[in-house]
Order: sequence, then structure tokens, then C-alpha cells
Amino acid sequence: MAKLSLRFYPDPILKQTSSEVMKFDKELHHFLDDLAETMYAEEGIGLAAPQVGVLSKITVIDTEQNGKVLELINPQIIDRKGKINSDEGCLSIPGYRDIIKRAEQIKVSALNRFGEPFEFDADELLSRCCQHEIDHLEGVLFIDHLSRLKKQFFQDWFKKQTKE
Ligand code: CO
Repeated sequence: MAKLSLRFYPDPILKQTSSEVMKFDKELHHFLDDLAETMYAEEGIGLAAPQVGVLSKITVIDTEQNGKVLELINPQIIDRKGKINSDEGCLSIPGYRDIIKRAEQIKVSALNRFGEPFEFDADELLSRCCQHEIDHLEGVLFIDHLSRLKKQFFQDWFKKQTKE
């Protein structure tokens, strides 16, 4: 296994839409293992393929940090219930956190590493993390959900970071 290097905002690859995975082969399994290793090395609870420069609909999640990796391939949110505000951050935007409104409960449909479909319900942190990671596969970052005023605040913060 190998740790992959992260892409950081404002890398344009983070704004691109990923392609669906069609081949469930050894190469995919390798990539999934590397993506999980990178997530743990960076102490994240989720990591999406575009964050390591790969535009494929693949994400790994471990909200409990217990080594049991949830692998989602071509994931889709098929149901959403409620709305909830919560604090969020992203490995691709280190040092910035903000309150983001998202669906409270969701139902996710995805494929596993062998191409077999499965579904699950998620709430709390897992729900938030799935929505955040699935957004990455569409080229959406958590800061894209901010109000115009807060986006301006983020831009000012970012300018300050790059100056230092
Ligand atoms: Co992220």
C-alpha cells in the first residue's frame, strides 16, 4: 500500500465531475487500499478520489476511526430527510471549518469493490460525511454551500493564508 498525495484548494481538479467506475479489478482494489491508507495517515474520516487527483466516483469513509473502511463506488443519495446544521472541514482545505446545512438522514446506494450493489441508511456524522464525500465526486466543496457573505469571509481567510 502507498500513501497518495493530497490535492488542495484551489486545485481545479477539485471542481471537476468524476466518471463512473466500470472495472472492478485488482487496480481498483489497490487504489481503494491506498485511498484508505491516505485517509488514515491524514487523520480524516473520509476521502474522495478527486482529492488525490483521480476523477473516479470512489470514496472511503470511516467516521468511527476503528479501521473498518466503508468503500463507496458510484454512490448516490436516493433519499433525504430533514435538515441540520453542523461544523465541517475538509482535508483539501486545511485549517478552515464552518457550519454547513445538510440533510439530516439519507439513504445511500452504492457498489462495493466487486461491483455488487448495496444500500444503507445514515444519520449523524455518517450522513454528513457521505454527503460531503459524494459532493466531491460532483466537483462540489463544502465551502460551495456557504452563503455569499460567508464565502467572502472564506476568500478573505484564504488570501491571508497564502500571503503568510
Ligand atoms: Co472534503
